[in-house]
Amino acid sequence: MTAGEHEAETGPMQVRGTVLTVRQVDAYHAITIVAPGIAARFKPGQFVAVAVGGPDTSMLLRRAFSIHDVRPDHGGTVEFVFSAGGRGTRWLAERRARDTLDLTGPLGRPFPVPRDPVSCLLVGGGYGSAALFALADRLRERRCSVDFLLGAASGDKVFGALTARRTSRSATITTVDGSLGVRGIVTDMLGQVIHEARTDVIYACGPMPMLRQVTALARRYDIPVQVAVEEAMACGVGVCMTCVLPVVGSDGITRMVRSCVDGPVFRGEQVRWDEVGTIPFDAFGAPGWEPKVRRGADQGARPPGSPRQPAAASAADRSDRPARPGGSRDSAKRPGHGT
Ligand SMILES: Cc1cc2nc3c(=O)[nH]c(=O)nc-3n(C[C@H](O)[C@H](O)[C@H](O)COP(=O)(O)OP(=O)(O)OC[C@H]3O[C@@H](n4cnc5c(N)ncnc54)[C@H](O)[C@@H]3O)c2cc1C
Ligand code: FES
Repeated sequence: MTAGEHEAETGPMQVRGTVLTVRQVDAYHAITIVAPGIAARFKPGQFVAVAVGGPDTSMLLRRAFSIHDVRPDHGGTVEFVFSAGGRGTRWLAERRARDTLDLTGPLGRPFPVPRDPVSCLLVGGGYGSAALFALADRLRERRCSVDFLLGAASGDKVFGALTARRTSRSATITTVDGSLGVRGIVTDMLGQVIHEARTDVIYACGPMPMLRQVTALARRYDIPVQVAVEEAMACGVGVCMTCVLPVVGSDGITRMVRSCVDGPVFRGEQVRWDEVGTIPFDAFGAPGWEPKVRRGADQGARPPGSPRQPAAASAADRSDRPARPGGSRDSAKRPGHGT
């Protein structure tokens, strides 16, 4: 097989998929589409970009959705969960069985999985939780233990609480209004869960403020964290630069990287959270840019966007460490997610 043929087997594709079901799941909708090629190529953390509005529409841009699940039925199906808050997602919620949808995927870099059986904490906010369940399955295949920490504004916006409780070692739920689980936000409980679960690696998906706080807390415990960011996207395939955010490479240099192809999964500590939405003056290529190594940059990782996935190598590498909370390490919004 040539390199080009291999890429064709593994890279994203555009399909017209038949809608199997659209169902309401509490505050969200879950849509299942027959898309065998995308299902076969999917790895947890990847997303699809869906054309909305039908053939004659002013909604020109595809909408991005994290893939929640793939199944072998009908040759291969893809399911994603969405909040019907805007024009495009409301249109999607009105689709019915046997309608067809134009979607591209799977897009983006997936979550890296550890080589060894370690203790993994999956932190989800609102519909962001949906992206974590396929990852949980994958981690269990690797004999990792899985704990969930899920939160949202109210109980109906916590996605997957029952499944998390049924399938994982522990599931902690937080809601801002106290209608389900502990009253508060996920980061209120993060330290306690890390202690109890003796967490080695954190994976997080949810609103950007949540990801930022999870990263800050994970740093305090010296635990590697992989975040799936949600930056507004247009093309979804690396062409338009709409989705860029500042990320520090292992060389200490900040680059504006495309979250659709270089992400959406990044190592949390590599994202310059304070400067998301801006081009920092010291970012590579910014006006007046001069090479300057940022202090504290992880020397073990590769620059984001470089051929081999930096996150994959580093999460696995760091997961190998014996230290756990309770041991030496211990002593130490974007609206719409439903959070
Ligand atoms: C990688 C990724 C994964 C996502 N996964 C999910 C998911 O699993 N479930 C879910 O409900 N939503 C998800 N989103 C957000 C989803 O793409 C937006 O909610 C959706 O585009 C809104 O479309 P709309 O027409 O209903 O809203 P409108 O506000 O009418 O959208 C107008 C435009 O703004 C852009 N836009 C609006 N809000 C967002 C946003 N939060 N993020 C990115 N672009 C936005 C849209 O692309 C569109 O072009 C994800 C976004 C990204 C980037
Ligand atoms: S959305 Fe176009 S480059 Fe990422």
